Amino acid sequence: MKISIIGAGFVGSTTAYRLVERKMCHELVLFDVNEGIAKGKALDLRQAAPFLSSDVVIFGTSDYKQMANSNIVIITAGSPRLPGMSRDDLLVKNASIMKSIVPQIVKYAPNCIIICVTNPLDIITYLVYKLSGFDSSRVIGMAGLLDSVRFKAFLAEKLNVSASQIQTMVLGTHGDTMIPLINHTFVAGIPLKDLMSKKDIEASVDRTRHAGAEIVAHLKTGSAYFAPAGSIFEMVQAIVRNQRRIVPASAYLQGEYGFKNVYLGVPVKLGANGLEEIVEINLSDSERKALTKAYAHVQGMIKALVHNRI
Ligand code: NAI
Ligand code: 2OP
Repeated sequence: MKISIIGAGFVGSTTAYRLVERKMCHELVLFDVNEGIAKGKALDLRQAAPFLSSDVVIFGTSDYKQMANSNIVIITAGSPRLPGMSRDDLLVKNASIMKSIVPQIVKYAPNCIIICVTNPLDIITYLVYKLSGFDSSRVIGMAGLLDSVRFKAFLAEKLNVSASQIQTMVLGTHGDTMIPLINHTFVAGIPLKDLMSKKDIEASVDRTRHAGAEIVAHLKTGSAYFAPAGSIFEMVQAIVRNQRRIVPASAYLQGEYGFKNVYLGVPVKLGANGLEEIVEINLSDSERKALTKAYAHVQGMIKALVHNRI
């Protein structure tokens, strides 16, 4: 198993640490346009590996050749959010970065599974899918797991219970149109609605929707990376270990949930072949309406891509 991470910034390097710590591959490549960042972080990680009892072989590079025949490529390259910016504000800049990266992935790792992380997530994943020509089972966006784990953390805090006992899913887009599924949220098997008032649930949903911005407002120079790296790790693990886990992720819809030709956050089954199935679940009328709104939002962004000739 060989994994390459494109973008050795905060998210990329934190993910690399998790992968090395849990020995998720034999070889790990950290790629960045800034060669010094890639090499420096790879060297540091190599020196940390003995503490982790890990023998993963780690390289840092700005030479695409190094990622040859990777099984999984994780794209975290691009600009992060800064205070006052929405994820969508990153579209033009990060889309043009994808245009330089994706042909290199196709050239050097033609059989890989791509996990896309760069924002605005759903539209960048769509672009990577189109540019790569890969089957959509091999191009998957990470966001739903992050939004779900944030929702879990906020609920656990309010209920004063272990977050590990909460099961939930957040669908839709990684943005204002994300959809926490309240009817599918349970605490140790007990429906959330039996344990929490409507007002408290709404407050947790609202905080989840703005969780990324809350962190950006504190950090000022960038955005979150510990929970994002944890979410990427879970997706990689599901693929490497062929776990066939059902998780929320951004997937290419071809009629599922009534939508076509778009990437949206839905429940998917992840295994050795990447996205093995889009799982269709019953949604309430308001959740279906919210998903239609999310679809319209992503469609608008696709139009913006065309408008900007990307
Ligand atoms: P960062 O600024 O720390 O790292 C980005 C790295 O990408 C930099 O090292 C930069 O040199 C590199 N880069 C820029 N252009 C490149 C190119 N053409 N080829 C290779 N590398 C290139 O940013 P951070 O915090 O790591 O975030 C990365 C991206 O992930 C951002 O777009 C951010 O919004 C997104 N993100 C998405 C999340 C999600 O849930 N989907 C969660 C967290 C971040
Ligand atoms: C986050 O939600 C910026 O998408 C990133 O933290």
